[in-house]
Formats: sequence, C-alpha cells, structure tokens
Amino acid sequence: MTIDGPDQLEKLKEIGAICRDVLRTMGEAVRPGVTPKDLDAIGGKMLREAGAQSAPMLAYDFPGYTCISVGDAVAHGIPGDTPLQEGQLVNIDVSAEKNGIFADTGASFAVGKIAPELQKLLDATRDAQRKAMFAARAGQPINIVGKTVQREAQKHGFQIIEGLNGHGVGAWIHEEPTVPNLYYPSDRTKLVEGQVITIEPFLTTKSRHYVEDEDGWTLRLSNGGHGAQFEHTFVITKGAPIVVTA
Ligand code: CO
Ligand code: CO
Repeated sequence: MTIDGPDQLEKLKEIGAICRDVLRTMGEAVRPGVTPKDLDAIGGKMLREAGAQSAPMLAYDFPGYTCISVGDAVAHGIPGDTPLQEGQLVNIDVSAEKNGIFADTGASFAVGKIAPELQKLLDATRDAQRKAMFAARAGQPINIVGKTVQREAQKHGFQIIEGLNGHGVGAWIHEEPTVPNLYYPSDRTKLVEGQVITIEPFLTTKSRHYVEDEDGWTLRLSNGGHGAQFEHTFVITKGAPIVVTA
C-alpha cells in the first residue's frame, strides 16, 4: 500500500513494533534443545496479547503462528517438534495484522555456537538487507534493491535464491510490487514516496534455487548448503527509510 496519512502510518508503526518484539523475544529463546513449536507458542501468545493476528494463518491457513525454517529449509517452515541442534541456523519470520494493517519481518539466528562460515553468512545477509533498504528511495528504480543485494552477495562469495522476493505490504500481507533480490536491468519500475514494502534477501552458501517440501509449505534449498534471510517492513521516502519493524 501507499501511506494515505498520519493515522495509517501510526497503525503501521504499531503492528511493525509488535512484529519486531515478537521476533526479538523468539530469537532470544533460540538455543539447542528448544523446538520450533516452543518458539511458535511464544510468538502466538505475544500476538494474542497484543491484539494482533498471525498473517500466515489469516491469509493462508498456515499451520503455525510464525514460519520457522531450520537447516536446509529457508522459508515457510512449519514449526515442528524436532529440537534445534547446536551449530544450526534457524530462520524465524513474523508477519501479523492489527487494525487492518499488516507488517512483516524476519531474521536468521545461530543455534548455540556456529561455524565461522555461517556467521559470515548471517553478517553478509543482514548487511545486504540494510544496504538495499537505505538505497531504496523514492524515484530510484526498484531494481536498485537487486543490484545492491547482488553486489553484497558477490563480495562475500554467497549465492542468492531466485524467486524468493521482497514485496509490497500493508493492506494485505503480500502486495504489489515484487521486490527481487536479483538485478534485472530491464525492470524500469520506480519506487514511490509513501510506498510500503519489504526487503528480504535470501543468501546461501551454495544453492540458487528452492524446492517445495512434501508438506506443501516448507521451501528447501535445492542443492543443499545453508541459507539466511533478514527482512524489514519500511516506508519509502526521498531520504532514509521509515523502518517500522526495527
Ligand atoms: Co516475512
Ligand atoms: Co515478506
């Protein structure tokens, strides 16, 4: 959506802060032995207490309050009861609605002590998200996002998963435009002041594609390795972004 006034911006900031707090609290609970189901229960309780509804449940009948993806799963993982293990990466994606307005955020977390290569993957992905978000200003082409993410990935020797993208958000969980993490020079679409979008790069150590699991939800790396994602919802301005989930 495109922000239509201060009331709507306040509502967006409110649901943005709820999603941020839920993600942070769930992230703090990540440790070896905890199950994704335990984490999801924390998120579900917090959303309920805040008067918010899980977006994946509301919009897609997803079997969980939040998406929790472990190991070679990179997105849309169903919170299951297999305990997390030391050395893994876990991605938690929190999106929710309150007062008719949606926000969406996500982050990957280390389970206990992780290999240096995986720490590098986390740092590079977080960095790519941040740089792309600050490059995304009104009047710039939307492909500045892909250009920035691609530059960061290449710099660190990581791959980008094709087909997992940022998106418009606000009046619904997934809206136009699609915000690709790869650079498509021919895409001339421009970013508009007041537009609400997410940027969510998915960087990997190896795979460039994903496959859908038999469960009908979980997206897994097609060629193995590890993946990470960081995501924020923000409002496009002529200057710095108004990040509502940070
Ligand atoms: Co998300
Ligand atoms: Co998203």
